[in-house]
Formats: sequence, C-alpha cells, structure tokens
Amino acid sequence: MAGLNEIRSKYLSYFGRNGHEIVPSGPLVPNNDPTLLFTNAGMVQFKNVFTGNETRPYSRAATAQKCVRAGGKHNDLDNVGYTARHHTFFEMLGNFSFGDYFKADAIELAWNLVTKEFGLPKDRLMSTVYAEDDEAFNLWKKIAGLPDERIVRIATSDNFWSMGETGPCGPCSEIFFDHGPKIPGGPPGSADQDGDRFIEIWNLVFMQYEQHADGTRISLPKPSIDTGMGLERVAAVLQGTHDNYATDLMRALILASAEASGTDPDGPHAVSHRVIADHLRASCFLIADGVLPSNEGRGYVLRRIMRRAMRHAQLLGVTAPLMWRLVPALVRQMGDAYPELRRAEALVTETLKLEETRFRETLVRGLRLLDDELDRIGSAKVLPGEVAFKLYDTYGFPLDLTQDALRPKGITVEQEGFDRAMARQREDARRAWSGSGEKATETVWFELREEHGATEFLGYETETAEGKIVAIVVDGAPVEKVGAGAEAAIITNQTPFYGESGGQVGDTGLLFNGSGAEFPVSDTQKKLGDMIVHTGRLARGELKVGDVVEMKVDSARRTATRANHSATHLLHEALRRVLGPHVTQKGSMVAPERLRFDFSHPKPMTAEEIARVEDIVNRIIRQNRDVTTRLMTPAEAIEAGALALFGEKYGDEVRVLSMGVDEDQSEKTYSVELCGGTHVRRVGDIAIFKIVSESAVASGVRRIEALTGEGARHYLVEQERIAKEAAGALKIAPEELPQRVVSLVEERKRLERELNEAKKKLAMSGGGAAEASPAQTIGGVQVVARVLAGVNPKDLRGLVDEAKKQAGSGVVALVAVSEDGKGAIAVGVTADLTSRFNAVDLVKAGAAAMGGSGGGGRPDMAQAGGPEGAKAEAALDAVRAAVGELAGAA
Ligand code: ALA
Repeated sequence: MAGLNEIRSKYLSYFGRNGHEIVPSGPLVPNNDPTLLFTNAGMVQFKNVFTGNETRPYSRAATAQKCVRAGGKHNDLDNVGYTARHHTFFEMLGNFSFGDYFKADAIELAWNLVTKEFGLPKDRLMSTVYAEDDEAFNLWKKIAGLPDERIVRIATSDNFWSMGETGPCGPCSEIFFDHGPKIPGGPPGSADQDGDRFIEIWNLVFMQYEQHADGTRISLPKPSIDTGMGLERVAAVLQGTHDNYATDLMRALILASAEASGTDPDGPHAVSHRVIADHLRASCFLIADGVLPSNEGRGYVLRRIMRRAMRHAQLLGVTAPLMWRLVPALVRQMGDAYPELRRAEALVTETLKLEETRFRETLVRGLRLLDDELDRIGSAKVLPGEVAFKLYDTYGFPLDLTQDALRPKGITVEQEGFDRAMARQREDARRAWSGSGEKATETVWFELREEHGATEFLGYETETAEGKIVAIVVDGAPVEKVGAGAEAAIITNQTPFYGESGGQVGDTGLLFNGSGAEFPVSDTQKKLGDMIVHTGRLARGELKVGDVVEMKVDSARRTATRANHSATHLLHEALRRVLGPHVTQKGSMVAPERLRFDFSHPKPMTAEEIARVEDIVNRIIRQNRDVTTRLMTPAEAIEAGALALFGEKYGDEVRVLSMGVDEDQSEKTYSVELCGGTHVRRVGDIAIFKIVSESAVASGVRRIEALTGEGARHYLVEQERIAKEAAGALKIAPEELPQRVVSLVEERKRLERELNEAKKKLAMSGGGAAEASPAQTIGGVQVVARVLAGVNPKDLRGLVDEAKKQAGSGVVALVAVSEDGKGAIAVGVTADLTSRFNAVDLVKAGAAAMGGSGGGGRPDMAQAGGPEGAKAEAALDAVRAAVGELAGAA
C-alpha cells in the first residue's frame, strides 16, 4: 500500500514523463492575488499565466501545492475533526496546461494515471460533467469507455469551478471513486451524495473564462487546463479507507498526539486528535510561510486555528503546552517534500509554544466562565452574544473556538449580540481617541483605520504582490478615484511596501495595473501603528477604490536598506563588546545609501576602537549565517537577552531578530534584537561594513555613520582613487604616502623656519625697509624706525631686541603689516634711556596713528597694533614726534 509521500512522487513523475515541468509549491500566502486570504488550489500560483498577464518558459506544469482553506470563500475550519475529509491544510496535486492541451488530453492523462499508475479498478470509477458540456461527456465515453449512466451531468456550481470572486474559471469534470454499497451515500447529483460512498478524487477544470469583479466574464486568451486532486483523499482511496484521517501520514500525527498526551488515539478523544493533527499542519506550514499569529487578517486566522487546536489539547487533559512537541513528527512526515518546514522548524516550535503558553493563562478561566454561563442559560440552546464577546475580548477565545466548544452540546452563539458588543467596543475606542485631542487632519486616518483595519504587511516575504485599493486620500479627504497628475495617498488591503518606522525609511516603488495606471510611490508611511499609506503622484491612467493593483517595491533600494538595517544590529552589538555594556541605542537612521547609529558613550572612540568594531562586524558577516526571526512577548524577548529600546512602545508580541554566533565556538547567538524592520536573509548579504565617521551629537551621545555592500565598495574605490591621485602627483607608490607626507610636512616646517630667518635678516639689514635711512638722531637720541615688509608681527619683539643691542643706546620702533592689512608696532628703549622715554607711551602714540587704541608692555619694550596698516609710516612719524617732544622737554 503506497504511502502519501510515494503517491505524491508518483503523481509528479508521471506528469514529468508526460512533458510537464515539475514546479515547487507556491507559498501559502499568495503574492499575486489580494482577494485571496490563502492559496486554496494548485492553480493560484499560475493565475496570471492563465489570464495571459504572465508567461513562463513552459506550457505544461505539475505541482503538489500546499493549500489552506480557512477564512474566505473556501472555509472548512468549522467542520474539521468531525468529518472524514475536511481539512484546513491539505495538499493538492495538479497538472496544468497553459494553452497547450485541452479537454481530450486532460481526460486521457487523468484516466491513465488513475487506472494504470494507481491501478484503481475501472468499474469503481465514475465521472461528472457540467450539464451542457457534451464534448466532455463524449470524451469520457470514448477515452475511458464509461457507460452513460456513470457520466453524470451536473447543472450546479459544483461543476463550474472558480478560484474566488474573481479570476480564471470554467466548467469542470470530476472523477469519483465508489467505495461500494457497504458504505452509505449516493452518487453525485443524488440527494444523499454527501455520504461517504462516492468520493470525488479529482477535479479537471477546463479553464476558459476570467471572472471580473463587475460580474462580467471574458474568455481567456487560450483554453487551458487546471486540475486538482486532494492528496489525502486519493491516498485514502488507495489505502482502502474513506477516512482521510486513517491514511498513513495523518495517522502518524494522530499517534504522536496520542502519545504526547498519554491518551487513546481512537477513544473518546478521537475528535480532538484529528483537530490537533489537522491544525498542526496548517499552523506549521503557515508559520513557515511567514504568517505569525496576530489579531488581524491572516495572522488572526492562524491564531484561530492554533487556539482551536490548543483547546482540544487542553481537553486531552495535558497541563503543559502540547502542540510544539508534535513538530518533529510533522517534520519527519513532510520535511523532505517541503524543505521550508525543516528550515523554519525552530521558529515554528517557538511560536507554537509561546502561543499555547499564553493562551493557557486565560483558557481555564474562560472555560470556567463559559460553564457558569451554560448553567445560567439552563436548557436554552443559544449562548448570549455578550458572553461570547467577553470570552473573545477578555480571554482570547476566537468566536469559532467558543462555537466549537458548544457544538457537542448542540448550543449555538447568538451572533447579533456578539456583533453588537464588538461594534460598541469600537465606538468606545473612537470616543477615547477623539477625546485625546489628536489633530483633526489625522481624523481621516483614524476613520479609515476603523473602516478597513490594519494593512497586511507582506514585505518580510516578498517585494512584489497585488493589493486591492481600499481607500484613496487627496488633500486630506477620502475620494473614490484619482486621475493622472494628482497627488494622492493610497491604502491597500495588503502591501509589500515597508512604512517608515524603527529608523528604517519607507519603501518607494510602483503601483500599476493592466489598464495603464501608474502610480510611482515616493514614500510609504505608517499611520496609527499598522495602516500603511503609499504616497505619490499618479503618473498615468486612473485608479479607483476597489481596483486591484500590482505593487512593486524598488528592489535595489530595499536590498541596500536591508543590508544597512542588519548591519546596524551587528554594529550595536560590536560597540557593546568593544566599549562596554553602557552602550545603548539612542537613535538610528537606516536608508539605502547609508546607516547612522547614535549611542551613549562619554568620549570619542579611538581609531583602534573603531577598527576593532569594524573587524568584529565584518567577521560576523563572513559567517554568513541565516538571520532568524521569532515572535515573543517583549518580556520574554528581553529575558532572552534581546536588545530593546527603552521607552519604546512595543505590542503584545514582538519580532526578535537573531544574527550570527559568538566567535568563541560556543554557538551562542551574537546579536538578538527586537525589530520590525526588514533584514537580509543571511548576514553574508551585507557583504562588507565600513565606518566612515564617528562624531558627537550631544553630550554623552556619539554618532557613527557607516556603509555596507555596494555603498562601502564605492567608498573604498573612491579612497583608493584619492590615494593614487596623491601618490601620482608625488610620483611615488601609494603605500609610501604616509611617510612621504610626514617628511614633506617636516621639510616644509624647516623651510618656513629658514625663510623666516632669512626675511628677518633681510629686513634688519635694510633690504626690506621702505625708507632709505632708518637711523636718525632726534634731540640727541638715536632713533631706529622702520617698516618691515614680509615680517610676521610675532617676530617684532625679537627684532626690536636685536636692534636695541646694535644701537647700544636709543629708541627702536618697528612696524610690520600683516597680510590682512593690519599694522603691528613694537617699541624698545635701551636701559640707559628708560628714565626719559617710556616704551608704552611711545607705542601707544604709534598705534593711535594706525587707528589702534591700546598698547602694553614694560618701559623698555611695548607692543600694540592698529587696523590701518597702510598708515605704518605715520605711526613711525608719531613715535619720532613723541621722542622729539620728550627729548626737547628734557
Ligand atoms: N482548481 C481546481 C480545484 O481546486 C482544480 O478543485
């Protein structure tokens, strides 16, 4: 008897042999369709190939596709556990023709697989066709040789398949297996068709149309084929059971649940084990594809699935979290076919453990409240909606969990009361908000947030996706549509664009659609914490609320930003290691071209410290480890050593980023940090890290600016160019630069010194003097007065001393004029004359002539200056006059 894994392989290799490309499963979160919550069929990843908007290098494909049907059009959550064939997660085997083969080949390929490869007896098979589809009817007769009574015409939507409200669709034809009369149930189309006897195993869709939101249906460019075979169903048939949960894979999970809980797999807890087995698969695969539990959108569907299973785990009587202990069993069963499961094993395990630990804190009290309420309603079969709301609001019971708990008792929940309570809570929140005095301009965001909820951020996983426009804002007011040229803010139900936060800049990129609209996004912001707003100017076409747009983040810019953001974490940790644990983040800015990191540290970093920090960061980069993300409560994250920003507001759950390992072989994580930003997949993607400046921003706060990747490389190339250019000018090799520059500087100093000496000598010998005869006798006193060209004012005193010595007895006055035109004057009086002349008085007289008012020194030597150096001669005249006056007075 073939196991599920073998059946999957057999299917794929059969179609491979028949010219089909074997394509890996698409992700559970479709990035090409904003109208779908989760991938619910194999054709989802090919949607745009069918409509002709996308081409692939092949026209035939086969896949085993992960599917989740919970929430949205195909929602099986409520039935799981109670029936033989409902799942939230299942695998769909499918073969596809994109305008290649059509009905005849599709039927023949299917028939041969089922009868020859799988060896199912022909007389146990039958088919259905869409009522008007004579062609398919005749093909089944001709190819399969089925008698007329085993080809059933069905007129209902059962034989017209559509993916969702919109998208490719077409009539279909299904293959049924008959388990025989011992099992109750009627053939398709009969009143008791839902019994277990006749089981649909394969749906062949003849894709011919595309359904539009306005109700119109257009023909696809080429008729195509999309088929879907539930792997669990066909495995059940091949394993001789009508119960999917009795197949080898599901059974292994049920046994794991039974063993972990110490309960009987088939006894009174059978339903719980089935719920756990199914929900374990859905939860693990969703987490592996990037969905994390939250209170909105996909994350909330995941939380509902997880909590539903966790209540059943509690019913099994186990007191500690159970789900996470089943992960290894699932990885054993499915890890080979879906390597992403193995890659995400740690994240999956921790997320399950965290959710169950937290949920258990309120689960018991919530169940007690539920019991009390049931006593109160007595024999009534309806639980008041208010109570269900309280369970939701206070105890974290999703509505479907409460419904599931009441189901065995035949009690339902009064839905209107629940909705009313929910609406009242929203109204209270609104009143509290408007009472808090926020700006009126922000009211529009609040109202939109209330109406449309949070924007689902897809950007951790993808840079392109489709989104449905839920609101357009022009000049602060919501509008229904915008035309070309208008500035607008656009909100979509989901987006790959990152809204500026945590220091990381908002993404830029393009929104566009098939009708020619183009909206370049110049910035992306977050409003009210979780609503993402794209701003820009519509370049072309028109956009309306309700339109679906392709959303493409500027990938090069995002890639560079990712590298800078991850490098910021590595830098933070390296600073702590080199400078000490007092280093805390004071701010950061992560842009595509560079990163900036402000941190507390009392003094400038030394060159050696900077080099060490750079070394560490680059060594961690070269480890090239995967970057891992986990979800924790802030308290747990901090306990796990995560660096967090003091005073920052964190939600109930935070993303925790881990990068690199310690260099001491301990395998301890190097950097653990709370962060909602986007990061590289592996640290090696940062490539290279270079600090370009270290400076002060405020007292006790330093700032580092650094580059990574291509930015760092450019910087280094530029540095090299500068060095080469300098070396070229000196005609030496760049490595000789430092020594040569030092010796040039020394040489220059020496030359300056020598030049100065020479100038002084020249000046004193008269060569630089502006007048012919510096020495004269005034009233019997020798006066040396001279304007010195090219002499530094600070050399004046020395020159005056020298002149005094030379003169033996007399008064010396020297003036120097600096480059900026100011005059400096020094006056010296030899010792024998200081009783008659005071140098200070003389210098003041000289300075006054140049517009100066000061002068200081001793009687034998004084100095002063004045702004009007051009009056140097007048200054000397003033000194001469003063000497003459005093000499005459004597
Ligand atoms: N897309 C088709 C289905 O899901 C095959 O049944």
